Amino acid sequence: MAQKIILDCDTGVDDTMAILYAALHPEIDLLAVGSVWGNVDIETATRNCLHTVAMAGRAEIPVARGAAGPIDGSDAVFAYHVHGDDGQGNAGTGRPVGETVEWTAAEQIIRLAKRHPKEIELIAVGPMTNVALALSLCPELPSLLKGVTIMGGAAGAPGNVTEVAEANIHSDPEAAAAVFSATWPLTMVGLDVTMITTLDDSHRATLAAGGSIGQYMADILDFYFSFFEAAAFGERRSCMHDALAVAIGAGLLEPELAPIVNAYVVTGAGPTRGQTVCDLRGMYMGYPEQHGATTRVVLKSDPAFAKDVVRVIAEAGDSPIDLTRVR
Ligand code: RIB
Ligand code: CA
Repeated sequence: MAQKIILDCDTGVDDTMAILYAALHPEIDLLAVGSVWGNVDIETATRNCLHTVAMAGRAEIPVARGAAGPIDGSDAVFAYHVHGDDGQGNAGTGRPVGETVEWTAAEQIIRLAKRHPKEIELIAVGPMTNVALALSLCPELPSLLKGVTIMGGAAGAPGNVTEVAEANIHSDPEAAAAVFSATWPLTMVGLDVTMITTLDDSHRATLAAGGSIGQYMADILDFYFSFFEAAAFGERRSCMHDALAVAIGAGLLEPELAPIVNAYVVTGAGPTRGQTVCDLRGMYMGYPEQHGATTRVVLKSDPAFAKDVVRVIAEAGDSPIDLTRVR
């Protein structure tokens, strides 16, 4: 049976890949998508969510609009320099598609969790604002979900916003802290694995040789590759952060090392704001059980899995919607 998931995303370039993968994979039942601020503003993120499900030929998947900024009301900071002004590497069609549902992304999580108790994996790949809001609206939510998987944090790897903080956590540490301290089984797919699961020009060539969906994905990766070349790798390749979280959260990729440990998020002011502190002290003993631990921290997974994600998208053929760019 396909794994039911809800995907919550701040749709920039890698989120687009994650939605495509989830919407196209036969072993994933993508029930709904929620947008959240983060890589781009909420208008742009929502438009990109709608566009991506339609591009995949899955326009029936509901898309709910989510939070526009951090849960504490502080100012939102976006990452247009990473994802382009349109969140699509400045290569999007510029054509809006579809409409959101009337409920919010947080309400959508609750509605679906109540409809399918203990069956849904909630996969959050942007700031965790919607998830924390859902938790505050419905404190019994942890008992209604199968689990929560996030793309976020760094257990041993350096951060990508500050020395120690990853973007999705750093964007809204208070929301992330609520997600980490809830009682659901939490899987953290952080920079420890997403920084070493990368896409290169051979993956882009495979996408470009596919139908219009693959070609679109190859096009929008161009800008993303340039960012990673300058900021991280010194050569043309990129991470695919969010699709890796989908693969692990949906059970399609079994991590090679993922101990269940105590973990928390640093909140408050100071240089470690947004750090994920994971108790890895058991590493020399094969990670013995820790009292009260609920966070499965993915420390090792197969980097070659990137080609599976690329294959699903490249083989999807042509989109039912027009993907040419508006001039
Ligand atoms: O740190 C990487 C994460 O931040 C990814 O989810 C990316 O899309 C951004 O949201
Ligand atoms: Ca994201």
